[in-house]
Amino acid sequence: MTIITSTKSVLIPALTVALLLGTAVLSRPLHAESAVADGQKLAFDRSKGNCLTCHEIKGGNLAGNIGPALTDIKSKYPNRADLVAIVTDETKRNPLTVMPPFGRNHILTDKEIDAVVDFLQTL
Ligand code: HEC
Repeated sequence: MTIITSTKSVLIPALTVALLLGTAVLSRPLHAESAVADGQKLAFDRSKGNCLTCHEIKGGNLAGNIGPALTDIKSKYPNRADLVAIVTDETKRNPLTVMPPFGRNHILTDKEIDAVVDFLQTL
């Protein structure tokens, strides 16, 4: 009787830890995937990023060509912070750019910019 009770008292916390670890491991790639999907949605959304007005982007229709096509972004900008800076306020890098300063003008929140950059890094 005492053996069964002590096995239970060890097993239940052990199972709980295993479950928690499993959830933590599983939720990482799922989160990353959903951030990329959110980023693509924001980039293509006419009332949000509207990046297609100026940029050709894989998966998007009726793109404009005021800006360069967004291809090989990950190899062009291996440093994530550079992409965050471009989307937040490209006028800092190029005062004459026509690209809207999405962060400075609060067109996109920091969280939305993060998701857009996650998407850009898949291009
Ligand atoms: C009104 C036009 C316009 C819109 C809208 C626009 N961009 Fe741009 N973007 C440009 C131009 C023009 C450049 C070229 C660099 C410059 O002007 O400084 C550029 C450059 C870039 C670059 C650097 C590309 C490279 O190859 O060096 C990235 C990345 C980028 N834009 C991402 C975005 C994202 C993401 C969005 C939407 C959230 C967006 N842009 C919306 C005009 C635009």
